[in-house]
Amino acid sequence: MPGIVIVGAQWGDEGKGKVTDLLAEQAQVVVRYQGGNNAGHTVVVGQQTLKLHLIPSGIHRPGVLCVIGNGLVVDPRALVAEMDELEANGLDTSGLRISANAHLVMPYHLMLDGIEEERRGGKSLGTTRRGIGPTYTDKVARYGLRVQDFLDIAVFEEKLSQALEQKNALLTAVYGKEPLEMGPILQEYGACAERLRPHIVDASLLVHEALTQGQNVLFEGAQGTLLDIDHGTYPFVTSSSPVAGGACTGVGIGPRLIDGVIAVSKAYTTRVGAGPFPTELSDDVGDHLREVGREYGTTTGRPRRCGWFDGVILRYAARVNGLTGLALTKLDVLTGLPRLKICVGYELALSKVEGYDGQVLKEFPYQGAVLARCQPVYEEMDGWAEDISGARTSDELPPQARAYVARLEELAGVPVDIISVGPKREQTILLRSPFATPQ
Ligand code: GDP
Ligand code: IMO
Ligand code: MG
Repeated sequence: MPGIVIVGAQWGDEGKGKVTDLLAEQAQVVVRYQGGNNAGHTVVVGQQTLKLHLIPSGIHRPGVLCVIGNGLVVDPRALVAEMDELEANGLDTSGLRISANAHLVMPYHLMLDGIEEERRGGKSLGTTRRGIGPTYTDKVARYGLRVQDFLDIAVFEEKLSQALEQKNALLTAVYGKEPLEMGPILQEYGACAERLRPHIVDASLLVHEALTQGQNVLFEGAQGTLLDIDHGTYPFVTSSSPVAGGACTGVGIGPRLIDGVIAVSKAYTTRVGAGPFPTELSDDVGDHLREVGREYGTTTGRPRRCGWFDGVILRYAARVNGLTGLALTKLDVLTGLPRLKICVGYELALSKVEGYDGQVLKEFPYQGAVLARCQPVYEEMDGWAEDISGARTSDELPPQARAYVARLEELAGVPVDIISVGPKREQTILLRSPFATPQ
């Protein structure tokens, strides 16, 4: 031990990749526990910018074992392409390990993701169209193909044939599409199987042994708390469990082996895709956050919706993840805004006609319809004009920035361990390492 979970506090893209890469310096193993290549984790080292989708963000640290846990859904074509890209950039992927129990994203999953989004019309979820939802659906419905089926291609072929029977019935009879042929899929996936076979392991055993031998293990979450299938803004969520609890089922270790949970949170809020977003801004401040923060999706390039920091969400993230610390990112993006707003509660608009009933919610509402009617209650603080991207200690931050961080810490009831002031590794104020022995 220790095992430290890194989880997104908001709707994803909080900077989990940067924080994981930073902390991986002190780790022996980095393991992803859910999601798939819907994730896009950016790691900037020197002049090199890596956009990781399936490979854990420890890959830039030589000697760190990178593991894909059973909780992921793996598109093997995307994984092979990512490995090739990293190798072309001079990185060694020979040490990558993939859980035999992870599920495979198949071509029909991508098709179904697209078809289902189209059928939802104006009520589409805005998925990444990487086949994530349909793959998890098949996992739970027990139709899935798994990474271990690559170990014996005859087994894979038989399972594919069964799956195609069921999927072709759906594609043709329900959706009026052409049936899929087995041959091309078998050829493409067979080539992936050859390539990935040496990397397939019992990831639960590997991570358990690392922890019990006293190694430091980072559990890297994808997406974020509000995209969680159970605890997020359903149905505008992803199909897995990004919250810290997902780390146990997504890797195959027990909760007693988790020693800390760090949430990564932006100093403001963003969301990509549809769904409620109480502090969303459609004014100059929203444009400032999007342009200065370069808020365009890592995976899909879509512009991210931007808004003020939401303290109700942070408190909720602290609860459902059992947070022990916070990594606050993109503080530099707030530079130049004269006044900063922090959402500290939600006022509930009963209806547009009746107006508000004055009730202020302090807890994140569990009903989607209620969240959709919430208006943020703001506190205001002074901003700062100084460039903070070179700050390496909190003393080097202007007093207004320190006060802002202190207020967020107070709202969360969780200490800020890391403040990030730029995309690069070194643009970080490390106040306390999560791997440090508690005093
Ligand atoms: P992830 O999905 O949580 O790993 O986050 P993404 O990589 O999708 O998005 C975060 C973006 O913000 C990336 O482009 C990072 O390089 C960038 N980033 C991370 N931390 C900071 C920071 O403190 N300041 C600025 N300006 N950019 C940051
Ligand atoms: P990282 O790990 C931000 C969003 C999609 C959509 C919803 C469902 O980079 O933070 P899906 O394809 O998962 O079925 O889409 O979830 N989404 C993300 N938003 N960051 C991500 O990952 C996301 N992964 C999925 O935009 O709203
Ligand atoms: Mg991302």
